[in-house]
Amino acid sequence: MPCPALPDGFDFTDPDLLQHHVPLPEFAALRQAEPVRWIPQAGNAAGFQDDGYWAVTRHADVRYVSTHPEIFSSYLNTAIIRFNEHIERASIDAQRFILLNMDPPEHTRVRQIVQRGFTPRAIRGLEERLRARATAIVAAAREQGGDSFDFVTSVASELPLQAIAELIGVPQDDRAKIFEWSNKMIAYDDPEYAITAEVGQQSAAEVIAYAMNMAAERKRCPAHDIVSTLVAAEDEGNLNSDEFGFFVLMLAVAGNETTRNATTHGMHAFLTHPEQWELYKRERPATAAEEIVRWATPVVAFQRTATQDTELGGKLIRKGDRVGIFYASANRDPEVFDAPDSFDVTRDPNPHLGFGGGGPHFCLGKSLAVLEINLIFNAIADAMPDLRLVEDPRRLRSAWINGVKELRVSEE
Ligand code: HEM
Repeated sequence: MPCPALPDGFDFTDPDLLQHHVPLPEFAALRQAEPVRWIPQAGNAAGFQDDGYWAVTRHADVRYVSTHPEIFSSYLNTAIIRFNEHIERASIDAQRFILLNMDPPEHTRVRQIVQRGFTPRAIRGLEERLRARATAIVAAAREQGGDSFDFVTSVASELPLQAIAELIGVPQDDRAKIFEWSNKMIAYDDPEYAITAEVGQQSAAEVIAYAMNMAAERKRCPAHDIVSTLVAAEDEGNLNSDEFGFFVLMLAVAGNETTRNATTHGMHAFLTHPEQWELYKRERPATAAEEIVRWATPVVAFQRTATQDTELGGKLIRKGDRVGIFYASANRDPEVFDAPDSFDVTRDPNPHLGFGGGGPHFCLGKSLAVLEINLIFNAIADAMPDLRLVEDPRRLRSAWINGVKELRVSEE
């Protein structure tokens, strides 16, 4: 039965839509009436023949797609469901070396190597330094004084940047560059940043060149960082230099944007649900970070491509069809969550899919992200417990990121 609640031409990946809000009512309508629905995309660019994608909106189906890589491949690009004039075929082809866009067994080989840098021990090793950073970031935001400050630039951006830079081993003086590059690579749909295809590609090339320089240095003089681990794997012949360069590039993006947006949405949720903030300040529930990620779902959707004809949600998916898995919808599925539209920092269990649907690509940085979110909200609760919302968030224009560019807050 076609879904009556969805207007003709509606596309969940329309950046004009996400710039204003995540389309939660439309997700709810689809989950009920047509949980796997073909969404046409007229004039899709970039030399692809695609004319649309299947929108998968139920929790169970998003999990199914994520955990069956033999049917739903990542090879033809995971992140870009909507093409625009800034995205060219050549740049999509180049992204094949990114872990997110690999299938087993290639993916298994590379993931086994890179996850050596993400062991619980490695993350624990960062904890004390990140705690000190979180305290310093919040103290610096306080010192700005004045009537209000931007939470995104003053607080939410800082810890993810420092964490990822520590992990990769980027020296302090170069960290701002990594931040700028990652912004440029992801904000191509937002005219405020005026990012052209060339700028995006140039930023990608610069990150890779930077990573290659680091690799050369670590070969001479190994350190305790992920680049040294990867360089050792390269020397053993287990990782090629493209895979290495693109992995560092991916970390720069994956580690920065996502956690920044989770933190910002989390702060906004606390400011608009004061009883939850009071509870958090009192009890500091360890469950809060996961609820923030469920609530925010910074990555609205990723996609897969069908490797064979298959059936899903009563629909025939043809080989070659693109399938959009909407984490933002799965995370509000009433089949799985009690009161899914309530922000509840004590929610437990919380089987949300904000870090992915549990398949082989499940977020490698989850423990680090959860640690960062805990550290930053603890630091805020300690030092700035009475923040006030000054203006509604200014959102990023994007086809797949639930992003915030500015959130003005002040201390009471
Ligand atoms: C993959 C979300 C933080 C590194 C993913 C995926 C999602 C995601 C949805 C795809 C999962 C799939 O396709 O099944 C998030 C969110 C974060 C976050 C919401 C913060 C709140 C981080 C951090 C890092 C990171 C801090 C690194 C330091 C990665 C990597 C992958 C990934 C490397 C690819 C894994 C693979 O393809 O095997 N993340 N992420 N993420 N994430 Fe995260």
